[in-house]
Amino acid sequence: MREIADKVYWAGKVDDRKVPFHRLILEKGTSYNAYLIKDEKTALIDTVDMLYGKEFVDSLGSEMDLLALDYIIVNHTEPDHSGALGALARKAKNARIVCTAYAVYELMEMYKIDKERFLVVRTGDEISLGEKTLVFHETPFLHTEETMVTYLKEEKILFPCDIFSTHVADNDALSVSELEDADSILEDFKVYYKLIMDPHRRYVLPMIDVVKKLDIEMIAPSHGYILDQNVEKYIGIYEENALESKENVKALILFNTMSGNTKKMARMLENELLEHGFEVESTNTEKAELEEVLTKIQYADGVLFGTSTKYADIPGNLEAILKELKELEVEGKPAAAFGSYGWSGEAVEVVQDYLTGAGMKALRSSDVIKSTGMSNVEFPLRVRFNPENSTKEIKLAASVFADAIRF
Ligand code: FEO
Repeated sequence: MREIADKVYWAGKVDDRKVPFHRLILEKGTSYNAYLIKDEKTALIDTVDMLYGKEFVDSLGSEMDLLALDYIIVNHTEPDHSGALGALARKAKNARIVCTAYAVYELMEMYKIDKERFLVVRTGDEISLGEKTLVFHETPFLHTEETMVTYLKEEKILFPCDIFSTHVADNDALSVSELEDADSILEDFKVYYKLIMDPHRRYVLPMIDVVKKLDIEMIAPSHGYILDQNVEKYIGIYEENALESKENVKALILFNTMSGNTKKMARMLENELLEHGFEVESTNTEKAELEEVLTKIQYADGVLFGTSTKYADIPGNLEAILKELKELEVEGKPAAAFGSYGWSGEAVEVVQDYLTGAGMKALRSSDVIKSTGMSNVEFPLRVRFNPENSTKEIKLAASVFADAIRF
């Protein structure tokens, strides 16, 4: 463990392998930064990757009596940070697990932890550790729905887990102030933003608003270097990128077509979205490479998936694309299903299930009615035969989708 501020210790693990991570290989490795605060009460902020879970628990157990651990803060549930939670919770029997409401069921399922162990926090909630105070702020979809950041008020440290991270393994330097040239991390810092945060860019500016209200002297993320100087520079990079994206909202329309009617719908939706001032790209999935389409989905602000129905199912290769969605950074991204049909039109419902299953913000009539009072718009958008007979419905649906993808 290394002290990084008064009573605050780094307790993580540097992983200098070529690390497989989602669909990537992290050539420079990474680190899983956990932090321990030893005040009158003791709190651990995040843990490490599942692979190093036992090592982490043993190491923490050699530093302190695990029965004296009061809180385990889980800012983000992905197993590269919560990986030691199951083993730790079994040994640190008195510790409450602090997280957002969205995280509880995920963690219960992942690590077989009783519901009674959890302490759910919302934005603005505080926990006093004695002299020091933890304050929590929800930061949904950065990069998964349950994420939050933790602020240590007295030391002015922000613990944002994945946010403001860098994928680099460095066994010597823990923070940027220990580097000869602090700016040498900027390229990796920006690459990280592009890969992990940019697909969720619509959620970055609300997070920046939260962060700017805090008096921050140090950002202690859960991958890579601790940012212990010029924190405004790093916050500024996120803000600048998010503002730039706000000016260039991109809609993607993917479709297959049997008789040409779903293609016609795609064209009509494209024209409507262009009228709304967005960049629009329309792709027939039968004519595109899988990887190329997945990259387009990742970087679009919202995606419309169009399909015909053949024998109650999705024809062509669209389903192969939909199956990959769970592997992409698409949680919280607006999406909708549409299609022309002749008899029953089940395929759009199947598409809808995939979108919801991947955590996309899939538009559905009942949600639109509840949030806008508009009861004349249909999602998934389904028209019988020629869409030119449904111009009004398509125009309206495009307008609701436009509102959903606007930042
Ligand atoms: Fe570093 Fe989203 O896990």
